[in-house]
Amino acid sequence: MITLGIETSCDETAVALVEQGRVLSCEVSSSVGLHSFYGGVVPEIASRYHTEYIFSVAAKALEDAGRTARDIGLIAVTVSPGLPGSLLVGIAFARALGFALDVPVMGVDHLIGHLVSCFLKTEERPGSGERYPFVGVVLSGGHTSIYEVRSARDIDLIGSTRDDAVGEAFDKVAKLLDLGYPGGPEVERLAGKFRGDDIIDFPRALLRDKDDLDFSFSGIKTAVMYHWKTSEKGIREKERICHSFQRAVTDVIKQKIMRAVRRTGMSKVAAGGGVLNNLVLRTELTELSKTGGLDLYLSPIEYSGDNAAMIASLGEELYIMGERACVI
Ligand code: KG4
Ligand code: ZN
Repeated sequence: MITLGIETSCDETAVALVEQGRVLSCEVSSSVGLHSFYGGVVPEIASRYHTEYIFSVAAKALEDAGRTARDIGLIAVTVSPGLPGSLLVGIAFARALGFALDVPVMGVDHLIGHLVSCFLKTEERPGSGERYPFVGVVLSGGHTSIYEVRSARDIDLIGSTRDDAVGEAFDKVAKLLDLGYPGGPEVERLAGKFRGDDIIDFPRALLRDKDDLDFSFSGIKTAVMYHWKTSEKGIREKERICHSFQRAVTDVIKQKIMRAVRRTGMSKVAAGGGVLNNLVLRTELTELSKTGGLDLYLSPIEYSGDNAAMIASLGEELYIMGERACVI
């Protein structure tokens, strides 16, 4: 059975085809360039973009896979969380297509999709149960969460951010330093240029209580703001701030993951979301997996940001498990 996935929860219009957990095509068109002028996603612009491009993105995904709409056996679409106007475009498109083709439409959760993205290039087939259990970590622009995942349908949230998401913190620091939007890649680039040992000791929040799995990134963002206000303006100082910020954030993520591993007794960890594009974070987590004895799965770079392959794969897995909670 071929599953067509649709993702329009934020600023990416994405459609993908998946069969037995294998990605046949994965098409993404982003409106991110239109938002950069405003320093963040403008919901109205995002929804209009989805409306304009969803059809051509779907057509391209079918063409890339060498299939036609008649080959589709299931449609999976992101139903939450996300910008309401953006979600609506994907859901309406999915329902219309499902109605026309007479195939079921499965609504899925975007964040669990980010976790499933970790397995898109592995041999662990959906529905076989061999992926589970694991500690799931979502590090994105809108969310920072830790889950105890026993199956695609049996998931408990055990930690989340109390204020900003980690990607949002990268974006806000970038905005403070006038680095453009989205900020993550640029903060990482400048951090990599820093040479020196005068690292700024930015605050690492919520580490005192050894059982606390929550995150907080608003304090570090404010600390960056005050530091930048009083420091000498220049590229070297920006590099120093980016490096120190990235190091502090990475430290916190590592510590929280190890706490979740201890709390759950699970040594398998899967981490996905746009922030997993960060190579320093990936390297640090890989190191941690060696010293901490973890069985670590990171979302492949091409599936770390928002995409529809993860949505199709999750929909397929839920369908195989007998889930029929369809949106149509
Ligand atoms: O998962 P995603 O594509 O969209 C959401 O569901 O939010 O994540 C986007 C976030 C943005 O905040 C962006 O700045 C961040 O991921 N990001 C990065 C990097 N690349 C993207 N953060 C840190 N380092 C990066 N290289
Ligand atoms: Zn996302």
